[in-house]
Amino acid sequence: MAEGRVHNFGAGPSALPIDVLEEATKGLLNFQETGIGIAEISHRSKEFTAFLSETEDQIRTLLRVPPTHKILFTQGGGSGQFSSVVLNLLARHHLLHPDLKNEDRVMDYVVTGSWSKKAMEEAKRLGGGRVNIAADARRYSQDGKSFDTVPPHDDYIFSADPALIYYCENETVDGVQFAGEAGLPTSFPFAKLPENTILPLVADYSSSFMSRPIPRLADHAVIFAGAQKNLGPAGLTILIVRQDCLVDVDAAAKLGAIPVPLMLSYKTLADSNSLYNTPPVLPVYIAGLVLRKMSAEGGLQTYAQSNRRKFEKIITALKEGEAKGAYKGKVKEGSVSWMNIVFDVPGEGRLQQFLDGAAQRGMKGLAGHRSVGGVRVSLYNAITEEETDQLVQYMNEFATKTS
Ligand SMILES: Cc1ncc(COP(=O)(O)O)c(C=O)c1O
Repeated sequence: MAEGRVHNFGAGPSALPIDVLEEATKGLLNFQETGIGIAEISHRSKEFTAFLSETEDQIRTLLRVPPTHKILFTQGGGSGQFSSVVLNLLARHHLLHPDLKNEDRVMDYVVTGSWSKKAMEEAKRLGGGRVNIAADARRYSQDGKSFDTVPPHDDYIFSADPALIYYCENETVDGVQFAGEAGLPTSFPFAKLPENTILPLVADYSSSFMSRPIPRLADHAVIFAGAQKNLGPAGLTILIVRQDCLVDVDAAAKLGAIPVPLMLSYKTLADSNSLYNTPPVLPVYIAGLVLRKMSAEGGLQTYAQSNRRKFEKIITALKEGEAKGAYKGKVKEGSVSWMNIVFDVPGEGRLQQFLDGAAQRGMKGLAGHRSVGGVRVSLYNAITEEETDQLVQYMNEFATKTS
């Protein structure tokens, strides 16, 4: 059934496990012996609602989400959340501090790459508060414009009682990621966050969700992720929202907050168990199958270990190729993403040769994002170690030919 498929190292939408796709094909025709395909069945049928609730349980168990947090499903992708988090958390801030003037309502953004920059610009555009850039990684790059590192902890300046504190855990375009454990020089600076407030910490986990455990998950107000990297097709957005962020947005609007469309309100989603409107039924189904597979294969730790091995293999090949003058890594040590490894292939026409040679060997999706060029190797969960080995072999051959 999977004949003719290539190795897809694309950054998203990206590869999904073959066995899941094969099972999904059956479900597309006949979902759980109902005689109705998954794309045709009512989202309020008992079979689908049971599946949705199982999917939620799987996420809760795999990521150890505490009962203080709700797991919600919606649409609109990461970009939709750039707006939603601002609107919901400004509404929360209005309810907590009704007398504050908007110019005194601050939203802290940590800017480490193209996606957090875009999210910060959306917060500015929406208004309703002042945007404070708590740290800007561009200051540390040679040209002052690129993103190639996580800023050092000394650099972060957070506001005392902001409406939100935003960061992007893995910058998919620039290949910059915070370290996977708390307390390292390149981990998120949890120790510097304001005290004496219930933290309004927001994290975009779009391209690293379910690839390894989330450090200090319980300290987050909102974690969001589009499904289309590690989990399923585009169209599904997953939210983990602390209960105090499920606020009455209409009450907040009466106090002067920006009115929030009901579809974007976290409380609306939570009150309706993510069934306020028709959810993306097929993406939920495929993501649910992927999560079942993850649980059956030993859970998040198994995937984290495999993802680390895949990352280390590519990094070794990259460093060996650098020594031969064939490649040039773009991200500083300690900040290199496990999921998206970016590098240049210096020399006239060499990049295209690299990409063409890879395509001839059945490896595609390796071109860097159009805004930055170069190569981007995306190593999401569905990329196997064998596929990684094939790419490593090719990278080594190409580097040897170059030197
Ligand atoms: C880290 C990150 N955030 C946000 C987005 C935007 O997601 P969407 O295209 O689902 O709106 C992406 C897309 O690739 C991403 O990688």
